[in-house]
Formats: sequence, structure tokens, C-alpha cells
Amino acid sequence: MRSVLTILTGSVLLTAAVSGSFPFETIQLTEADVGNFSSISFGTRDAAKPLADDAPECRAFPGSSDWPTDEEWKQLNVSLGGALLRPIPVASACYKAGDFNTYNAATCRYLVQQAGRSHFWLDDPLSTLTQWPQGATCQPALNPVGNCTRGGSPEYVVNATTVKHIQAAVNFARNKNVRLVIKNTGHDFGGRSMGAGSLSAWVHNLKSFEFIANYTSDVYSGMAVRIGAGMESWELFNHMGASGNITVVAPGGGTVGAVGGWLASGGHGTLTSKFGLGADQALEINVVTADGQFVTASSTINKDLFWALRGGGPSTYGIMTSVVLKAFPPITMASVPLSFSVNQALTPAGMNFTFPPGLAPSSLNSTATFWKGINIAYRYGTKVLDVGGYCYSYIYPLGNNSFSFTTTHNIPGMETAEISALLQPLFDELNSIGINVTNPQLSAWSSNFYSGGRRTIGTAAPAETRYRSRLFPRRNWEDDELFNETFTAIRRSIEAGYTFHGIAYSPTREVAGSPGADSAVNPAWREAVLHASLMETQPEGISAEQARERDKKVERYLDRWRAVTPGSGAYLNEGDPAEPNWQQSFYGSNYPRLLEVKRIYDPWGLFWARTTVGSEGWEVVTEDGYPFSQNGRLCKVDG
Ligand SMILES: Cc1cc2nc3c(=O)[nH]c(=O)nc-3n(C[C@H](O)[C@H](O)[C@H](O)COP(=O)(O)OP(=O)(O)OC[C@H]3O[C@@H](n4cnc5c(N)ncnc54)[C@H](O)[C@@H]3O)c2cc1C
Ligand SMILES: *[C@@H]1O[C@H](CO)[C@@H](O)[C@H](O)[C@H]1NC(C)=O
Ligand SMILES: *[C@@H]1O[C@H](CO)[C@@H](O)[C@H](O)[C@H]1NC(C)=O
Ligand SMILES: *[C@@H]1O[C@H](CO)[C@@H](O)[C@H](O)[C@H]1NC(C)=O
Ligand SMILES: *[C@@H]1O[C@H](CO)[C@@H](O)[C@H](O)[C@H]1NC(C)=O
Ligand SMILES: *[C@@H]1O[C@H](CO)[C@@H](O)[C@H](O)[C@H]1NC(C)=O
Ligand SMILES: *[C@@H]1O[C@H](CO)[C@@H](O)[C@H](O)[C@H]1NC(C)=O
Ligand SMILES: *[C@@H]1O[C@H](CO)[C@@H](O)[C@H](O)[C@H]1NC(C)=O
Ligand SMILES: *[C@@H]1O[C@H](CO)[C@@H](O)[C@H](O)[C@H]1NC(C)=O
Ligand SMILES: *[C@@H]1O[C@H](CO)[C@@H](O)[C@H](O)[C@H]1NC(C)=O
Ligand SMILES: *[C@@H]1O[C@H](CO)[C@@H](O)[C@H](O)[C@H]1NC(C)=O
Ligand SMILES: *[C@@H]1O[C@H](CO)[C@@H](O)[C@H](O)[C@H]1NC(C)=O
Repeated sequence: MRSVLTILTGSVLLTAAVSGSFPFETIQLTEADVGNFSSISFGTRDAAKPLADDAPECRAFPGSSDWPTDEEWKQLNVSLGGALLRPIPVASACYKAGDFNTYNAATCRYLVQQAGRSHFWLDDPLSTLTQWPQGATCQPALNPVGNCTRGGSPEYVVNATTVKHIQAAVNFARNKNVRLVIKNTGHDFGGRSMGAGSLSAWVHNLKSFEFIANYTSDVYSGMAVRIGAGMESWELFNHMGASGNITVVAPGGGTVGAVGGWLASGGHGTLTSKFGLGADQALEINVVTADGQFVTASSTINKDLFWALRGGGPSTYGIMTSVVLKAFPPITMASVPLSFSVNQALTPAGMNFTFPPGLAPSSLNSTATFWKGINIAYRYGTKVLDVGGYCYSYIYPLGNNSFSFTTTHNIPGMETAEISALLQPLFDELNSIGINVTNPQLSAWSSNFYSGGRRTIGTAAPAETRYRSRLFPRRNWEDDELFNETFTAIRRSIEAGYTFHGIAYSPTREVAGSPGADSAVNPAWREAVLHASLMETQPEGISAEQARERDKKVERYLDRWRAVTPGSGAYLNEGDPAEPNWQQSFYGSNYPRLLEVKRIYDPWGLFWARTTVGSEGWEVVTEDGYPFSQNGRLCKVDG
């Protein structure tokens, strides 16, 4: 039985019922909690107004006249039952000077040498895993230069463990004109989970899990799980094992959040060609919207919100607190490796990459043969996708015309002999051009459950990665000449020194099923057979001008990728905040409808992050002009 209450607020019809929830979601902000503290009172949406039309020119900022008083922050903390944090950057332990007087050599050594091999950075309320958008104002380093300042890190953090915490944070930020950010794991590559002068709603500790043996709705009937918004992939895998090795589509990266940005922007994993993207798994989503209300979005209630939350971008329409995802019976997953290199099997420079025992790449001495082999391997990839598989590859430029290629073919639910037979023609073809690789014996991999073998605590360390993305459609595989052109464009970018990360999968509408096929996932994805990225590290300490020059250089190579894939797009999560024409690239033809949903649910423009729907009207104003840095005040573009 699900009671659905429909109320009228302002000019917007809003369905305010929540059909199922975790205990932490039943603790909600009431009018009695608000009392006379109007700073946390609920908002009234008025969709008739253009986005953020009557907002001040800039968000409040520490030191600005509209910044809340200490007394107001204190009162917010009381309303939050003490869950308000004002954390200092942990790497301040490495600095003898700066805004914080917390130098501690032992702590600094721990941060630099050990923290990355633990869960430390993920449990820290301020830290993010890609640091350059923060402004590099407080780096963990044994002998850092300069002073430690807060930079692009938030001013205050709500350590949310109830829906009430999130509602109070949303209401306070909206009423007080404070910039609001949402942080889960902090994996975002584009600074979308941080911001100077902000209040951060930190959902990391929402770890609940529930197995639903028989979930029934108008669009789905079968196994499901409800997970809290702070669940990480490795934790979800452990729950799958404990629930009888059930199968849930989860991020490949172990510490990536299984809800958050991953689901909101699509989200791929090793099962994506078989069961679809992360967004395709969602059956209902509980969310706190910009007015502070807690609502459910599903195929029957708040349908437009449900559509937008699945693929329409992170930090845009509300703060998700839990999601019900499809679950499938136990399934095996085999992983078949293949590697070869040319002009030496080197360890990729700076990558600290070691090949698994016995899998050192076959080394060639002909660059032409190497690139021929690359074409053969990627061309064959679609055969793996067509049985529900996923190929995860890198091509490393090693200097001196030396390159290394490594891939794994991840194949679910197939017998060992079938897999060997499926891949033998690939190995034969490579052998025929002189690449000495053998189809490996599969017994060691074949019996593993997808849910198996991932029990240890996830670890992660901050980095300075820049990712650029393009989705390559199947039609580029169907024509010999176009395929060659495609891989010539790719080859040129690798020869220019960029690391290539190719992930082949095929989340068609058919695979997405119901309700997945009807979502805001980038339409380019439904045609794609390869999601390719160029990776580089943004060096520390470069000037704004140097950063812009680097962006310009990589764009020259990406333009060749775009030229062979007209009308396609890119994956926001593994794309770049500098993506040109990002509305088309990241959202495709869904953009106008998404903007409508944004206007309806967040007419204040409260949720803001770069390249999210409706974000055009605002920009971060920095002192140094460093492109896409979050180290500055958020202001209207015309302001
Ligand atoms: C090591 C590593 C491995 C990766 N592996 C994969 C992979 O296998 N597959 C893949 O598809 N991607 C992968 N990614 C990319 C990943 O999908 C993105 O980094 C994604 O943004 C992570 O989301 P998060 O919520 O974990 O991170 P966060 O940085 O905390 O959040 C990302 C964005 O989502 C918003 N957000 C977070 N929680 C919520 C919420 N509850 N409600 C609304 N908005 C929210 C944030 O505001 C931010 O804009 C990987 C990234 C890294 C660094
Ligand atoms: C607000 O209410 C509290 C009690 O909940 C009371 O102590 C306080 O004086 C009130 N403040 C104002 C300004 O009315
Ligand atoms: C919020 O209150 C708790 C105790 O109730 C306290 O420990 C914490 O420091 C306060 N936060 C801030 C930012 O003052
Ligand atoms: C660093 O901070 C110290 C005081 O803590 C100050 O004297 C010095 O000028 C600062 N240096 C810079 C580069 O800001
Ligand atoms: C956040 O809250 C949880 C639950 O109360 C607590 O265990 C954790 O230590 C808090 N984190 C920080 C950084 O205060
Ligand atoms: C699941 O529930 C539906 C509707 O209540 C019912 O028709 C179906 O038989 C149930 N399936 C299982 C496996 O229990
Ligand atoms: C899950 O599979 C593993 C083998 O991969 C097995 O050891 C374990 O017992 C299974 N768990 C359950 C609950 O069935
Ligand atoms: C490479 O990784 C190994 C094991 O993780 C580590 O011991 C070693 O210090 C790393 N080397 C470099 C240069 O980072
Ligand atoms: C290249 O390698 C092949 C065997 O792999 C060998 O026969 C040939 O002599 C090599 N050529 C050169 C120029 O080293
Ligand atoms: C390239 O080769 C030259 C000469 O052998 C050597 O000095 C240089 O270090 C090499 N560069 C790289 C990146 O391996
Ligand atoms: C191919 O590699 C195997 C070992 O992987 C080796 O025994 C064999 O000699 C190689 N063949 C050629 C022609 O290089
Ligand atoms: C594509 O490239 C391969 C070598 O990589 C070549 O053999 C083939 O003739 C090319 N096909 C076309 C249509 O250009």
C-alpha cells in the first residue's frame, strides 16, 4: 500500500509522498523544528520565474555583508543537533604558515606516505580526489611552498546522517544566499563537489542497505536493493555477496559512489552491455529538492524529476538520499587479458603500472604492426559487447616511439570454452600479423561470481587527473574506411603524448530496458560502442595562462575525434569541465527538457556545479583567473 499525497505549493503541483525509505529518511525537518529560526524555513517554488532571476548578483562569501553571522551558523548547528562541521584542510599539517596553525610533521608524513593506501581521504569532509580545482592552496607535500589556505574547499560541512540534516542545509543555503555544494566520495574530476565560500551537504555517511526480494511496480517486478546515497562500490559488492551473491550494476572503481555523480550522469560498470548503465538500474529515488521538501521520484510519482535524475547530471535537481536499484541473480564474470607493446615492454612512465604475473606484454619491433594490432583489437571489441561484455583498455605512450597496450575482456555468464572460442579469432588474427599473444587458459577466472573477490576496504589518493571524453558510435565500426579514420585520429593523439583510456560497452535502449530506456541518459550513449578518454596530469604550480595553453593543445586532438563522430557526445563524469559546447556533448537532445525540469524543481538555481544543466548563468570569479578553478566567489555571469 502506497499512499500518495498531492499538495499544491505556489504554481507547482508537487507530489510529496515518499513510498519507501530507510529509518534515517524518516527523520525529517518539521515546522516545529523550524520554529522561529526562519533561516531554515521551507521554500515555495514558483516555476513561472526564469532560473534564479531574483537572486542577488553573487552568492554570499566570507566577509561579504550578507554572509551569515556566527550566531546564525551556531543556531544552524543547534537545528542540526551538532552535525555542522567547520573542518580545516588536513594538509595544513604540512605547512608552517598560513591560515591554520596546525603544523605537524608526523601527520604530514602520514598524509604523503600512507593515507592513500587507506580509506582516509574518503572519510575526510573536505578532501576531493582531484585537487587542481581547489586551487592547490594546501597540498599534502613534505616540503610545500607557500601558505595553506582554504582555497576552493567549503567553509562549512553538514555531516548528514538524516534527511532532516539535508533539509536544514538546503533551506539555510537557499534562504541565506549561501553557495551549496554536495559531496559524496569526492571523485569528481571537474571540481563539482567543492566550492569556496560554500556550505557542503556531505552524504558520505548514508551507508544503509536493504535487499528487496520482490519489488513490484508498474514497470518492474523482481529483485531489488535500496541503498543509501553514501554507498561506495566496494561496499555494495560486499552486500551483494552477503545477500546470496546477487548482482547489481556497480561502478568499476571501488571507491566510486554507487548513487551520487556516477548514477546521476549515467555510470558504467563491467555489466553495462548486459544490464545497462547505473542510471538504467534506478526504480525509485528519494530526494530533497531545492525547496527543502523530501520526495520520491519514480515512474509513477514526480515522473519528470525521476527522468532527469537518471542521467541528467549531478547536483542539479536535488540531493538524493537513497535509490532502489534492480538486482539480478548471481552471475559469473571472466576477465581475459591481452597486452602487447612496441619498441620495448616498459613500465609506463609515471604510471607505476606493473603487469600481472605472467602477463607481461608481447613486445614488437614494428610500430606499423603495433598500430595494426590496435585496430584489430578494438575492431573485435564489438563481438565482446554483443555477448554482454566490457573491454577495459589503455594505450600508454612511453616516449621514443614506444607504446604499450593493455586490455581486459570482461565477459559475464559464459562457459570457459565458449569464451575461448569467442576470442580465438582475435588471437589468430593478431598472430597472423606477427603479434605473439596466446588466448589464456580460463580456469583461473571462470568460476568467480561478479560479486566475489572485492571485500577489502577501498583505498584512494588525491591526484591531478584531467580526462577528456568522446563516445564513439557503432557506425564507425561498420565501415572499414571510417573505422580506419577513427583510429588514425586516436593514434595521432596518443603519439602526441596523451594516455588513451578506452572502455568498450554498449548500453543500448534495449539493454536499458524498463524504466531505463526512458531516462535522461545522454542519447549518444545508446549508439556508442566505445567511451574513449585522453588522460593527462595537470602539473602543480602552473599559471592560468599555461593551463589555458595546455587545454588548447589537447583540444586540437579532440577536435579530430569530434570530426569523425559528428553529433555524438561525451561522458560528463570522465569528461572535462573545459568541454566545448558541453550542453550538446554531455546531454544531447535532452538538454531543453532538462532545463525545464531544472526550472521547475530549482527555480532559485540553488544547486550549481560546472557543466550541469542551467549552470550557464553563473561562474566562479577567481583572483588568478585559473580556468575552471572553484577557488573564488560564485557570481552571475552578467553581474
Ligand atoms: C578512481 C576513479 C574510478 C572511477 N571509475 C569509474 C567507473 O568505473 N565508472 C564510471 O562511470 N565512472 C567512474 N569514475 C568517474 C565517476 O563516475 C565520477 O567521478 C563521479 O562523479 C563520482 O561520483 P561520486 O558521487 O562518487 O563523487 P562526488 O565527487 O562526491 O560527486 C560527484 C558529483 O555528484 C554530485 N552528487 C554526489 N552525491 C549526490 C547526491 N546524493 N545527490 C545529488 N548529487 C550528488 C556532487 O555534487 C558532484 O557534482 C571514476 C572516477 C575515479 C576518480
Ligand atoms: C526563538 O525560540 C526560542 C525557543 O525555541 C527562544 O528561546 C528564543 O528567544 C526565540 N527567539 C526569538 C527571536 O523569538
Ligand atoms: C556544532 O555543535 C557540536 C556540538 O553540539 C560541536 O562539537 C561542533 O563543533 C559545532 N560545530 C561548529 C561549526 O561550531
Ligand atoms: C604566509 O603567512 C605568513 C603568516 O602566517 C605571512 O607572514 C606571509 O606573508 C604569508 N606568505 C604569503 C606568500 O602569503
Ligand atoms: C560524521 O558523523 C558520523 C556519525 O555520527 C561520525 O561517525 C563521524 O565521525 C562524523 N564525521 C566527522 C568528520 O565528524
Ligand atoms: C512478486 O510479487 C508479484 C506481485 O505481488 C507476484 O505476482 C509475483 O508472483 C511475486 N514473485 C515472486 C517471485 O514472489
Ligand atoms: C558467494 O560466492 C562465494 C564464492 O565466490 C561463496 O564463497 C559464498 O559462500 C557465496 N555467498 C553466499 C551468501 O551464497
Ligand atoms: C610503486 O608502487 C609500489 C607498490 O604499490 C610502491 O611500493 C612504490 O613505492 C611505487 N613507486 C613509485 C615510484 O611510486
Ligand atoms: C623484429 O622481430 C622479429 C621477430 O619478432 C625478428 O625476426 C626481426 O629480426 C626483428 N627485426 C629487427 C629489425 O630487429
Ligand atoms: C629516448 O632515447 C634516448 C636515447 O636512447 C634516451 O636518452 C631517452 O632517455 C629516451 N627517452 C625516453 C622517454 O625513454
Ligand atoms: C611466442 O611466445 C612464447 C611464450 O609466450 C614463446 O615460447 C615463443 O617462442 C614465442 N614465439 C615467437 C615466434 O616469438
Ligand atoms: C584500414 O587499415 C588497414 C591497416 O591498418 C588496411 O589494411 C586496410 O586496407 C585499411 N582499409 C581501408 C578501407 O582503408
